Amino acid sequence: MSRKPFAVANWKMAMTVADSLAFARDFRPAVSKLTTRIDIVICPPYTALWPLAAALKSSPIWLGAQNLYAGEGVNYTGEVSAELLADAGCEWVLLGHWERRRHFGETDDTVNRKVRAALDAGLRPILLIGEGADARDRVRESVEQQLSQVLHGCQVDEVADMAFVYEPEWTIGAEEPAPPEHVAEGAELMRAWVSEQFSDGAAEAVRIIYGGSVTPEHAPALLVHGNVDGLGAGRKGRQADPFANIIRLIAMSKNLA
Ligand code: PGA
Repeated sequence: MSRKPFAVANWKMAMTVADSLAFARDFRPAVSKLTTRIDIVICPPYTALWPLAAALKSSPIWLGAQNLYAGEGVNYTGEVSAELLADAGCEWVLLGHWERRRHFGETDDTVNRKVRAALDAGLRPILLIGEGADARDRVRESVEQQLSQVLHGCQVDEVADMAFVYEPEWTIGAEEPAPPEHVAEGAELMRAWVSEQFSDGAAEAVRIIYGGSVTPEHAPALLVHGNVDGLGAGRKGRQADPFANIIRLIAMSKNLA
């Protein structure tokens, strides 16, 4: 399997500009030997995008946003478009996080419109997919429904270029991640769905990682299954040392370190 492993840090509404620059200072050297072998995406709050873009310049570490607004034109006071994110140095954008669904009422349709806006502006979506807290025993149904709606209208080459995070709602901000066999099942279902609905080639190309209470301690077990191409972290993604450790463990699990 030749997929490049993938890791993402979602800083949510944390990290001042000073925190972000301190993270970059410590994190860059800690992962410098691995950045050509693993795609690493840092998603800071909007306020830290531009300073972080400058701090990560000349580094292969990617910058991503946590959201975008899909309206056309400029008359949306307080919102940020895909074009503005690309201008600020973003290559990627997280879309579909459960916190956006839960607190802001985002639906699969909203996410689908954001996917289109991202692609049209040249941003690559990192799609968060996973069953809700009340659907732990309906993983297939939940995942397939989300995938079919959020990817509605996408072309096979667009999908092949995206990344996906299998992140069940009940694992976010929890004490423990999902059990490794649950993670493997979710990732496998997602890849099989991409293969059926798009192509074997797209399924072989897309990076599918796991997110939800990831820590360095849990990382090796979560990475055992070949369908899991990496990990995404919230809390541990804000600390340079633990996140660098997670990157190293991803590399080790893929025999890259
Ligand atoms: P967590 O956050 O790692 O702190 O659970 C994960 C996420 O919400 O993406």
